[in-house]
Amino acid sequence: MIPTCAAQTPADATSDDDFSSDVLKGMARTPKRVPSKYFYDARGSQLFEQICEQPEYYLTRTELGILESNVADIAAALGPHALLVEYGSGSGIKTRLLLDALDEPVGYVPVEISPSALDASVENLAEEFPDIDMLPVTADFTQPVDLPSPDETARRTVVFFPGSTLGNFEQAEAISLLRTMCIEMGRNGAAIVGIDLKKDNAILEAAYNDAAGVTRDFTLNLLTRINRELDADFDLGQFDHRAHYNALAGRIETHIVSRKDQTVRIGECKVDFARDEAMLVEYSCKYSQEDFAAMAAKAGLRVVRTWMDSNHWFAVQMLERA
Ligand code: AVJ
Repeated sequence: MIPTCAAQTPADATSDDDFSSDVLKGMARTPKRVPSKYFYDARGSQLFEQICEQPEYYLTRTELGILESNVADIAAALGPHALLVEYGSGSGIKTRLLLDALDEPVGYVPVEISPSALDASVENLAEEFPDIDMLPVTADFTQPVDLPSPDETARRTVVFFPGSTLGNFEQAEAISLLRTMCIEMGRNGAAIVGIDLKKDNAILEAAYNDAAGVTRDFTLNLLTRINRELDADFDLGQFDHRAHYNALAGRIETHIVSRKDQTVRIGECKVDFARDEAMLVEYSCKYSQEDFAAMAAKAGLRVVRTWMDSNHWFAVQMLERA
């Protein structure tokens, strides 16, 4: 069903209205969808941290293990006087590890859309690394940004994009993001990218359906956010979380499923949901090493080093311009 006022969504909606216009536009699509970047309000970020502690969600701890075991090697491969640019500003543990191991890094540039997350990450790091220029940039990292210049000239720019966040983008968008990265890093640049690898379906599906139900709460929190910020009336008891692995596409697809025929109000719009109708809220793409190398090549990049855990569940890739 088409929401009654989808046609009224202005095509030129201002940027502070992005959430509203993205949600309303998504309600007019078949299947309905909401971009996964909207998971991360304060509560969503908190729930994501909790997901990382669930026994089934191996990604974060596996990547951290890879970084811990190989950080000296990674730092040596990157070389001295690097400007470290991070896409998104995570919990800071991985950043700390890398900044600590790098040979006299000249600056740290977290690129993050949420000013509060940005402030929090830089505040802590500034104390720990008084000699490193902290140069936060409030921006959407999917768009090219003007990088600030550190006091001391950098030998190279290194883009750090951990967490398999790349997997949230569809193939074409992921390639365009890698292309942006390629431009951003400059001629002598490099990137360190974390990607989740293809593996047994059961392991993948368990990671997105933890027994404690934290991922379910994380997914449904999107409805809570829509209710609060867009004056909507989703009844959380009438929707379910569903995450399943689409082996053909190589990705976990997370949906919010309507438990009955129902009509939801979002602001002044009415949106109909059929029983069992599934609204797409996230892709988490899984790669083989070949998949990833091919995508990187399409963006003008090549894989120069790969670090993995002993199970080969996750990979940390170093990229340079091809
Ligand atoms: C933070 C995007 C890497 O896709 O695995 C975790 C987010 N979603 N559980 C992922 C997420 C459901 C996560 N990333």
